Amino acid sequence: MTTLTVNGRRQTLEVAPETPVLWALRDTLGLTGTKFGCGAAQCGACTVHIDGQAMRSCVTPVAAVEGRAVTTIETVTGGSDPVGNAVRDAWVRHDVAQCGYCQSGQIMSATAFLRSRPKGSQPSAAEIDAAMAGNLCRCGTYDRIRAAVADAARALA
Ligand code: FES
Ligand code: FES
Repeated sequence: MTTLTVNGRRQTLEVAPETPVLWALRDTLGLTGTKFGCGAAQCGACTVHIDGQAMRSCVTPVAAVEGRAVTTIETVTGGSDPVGNAVRDAWVRHDVAQCGYCQSGQIMSATAFLRSRPKGSQPSAAEIDAAMAGNLCRCGTYDRIRAAVADAARALA
């Protein structure tokens, strides 16, 4: 049994301690917005926030996040998070998604990046690219992602 705090709710799960957070979220809690891509911390599709930091849930065991706050795409884009709202709206304005598979991970990395910056600061293209480098997109939406992150930063300034 493992006790996790997911999207602000404390939950006790009947999973082994070595279970990756990704599968606890998807299979046990039904939070399927977080995606499986590579399972090896190489693609970013499974990105969630652990205490506000973007982390790869496919290689993070539940035992490592006991007592820490796990936040998923369902909360970040659910309407009550100003940074998540700004990123989601910018994503829509720039029509970022193509097949969509990588996009929840992209948004989780983008929101963690924008939260980590001084309020009102505008990131450079190079800073955005560095922050998003761990998130791959087979559809090649990188230009739109870069534009949307910059636009979200302007909206939050
Ligand atoms: S599924 Fe976790 S990084 Fe690819
Ligand atoms: S939108 Fe298809 S993989 Fe990124």
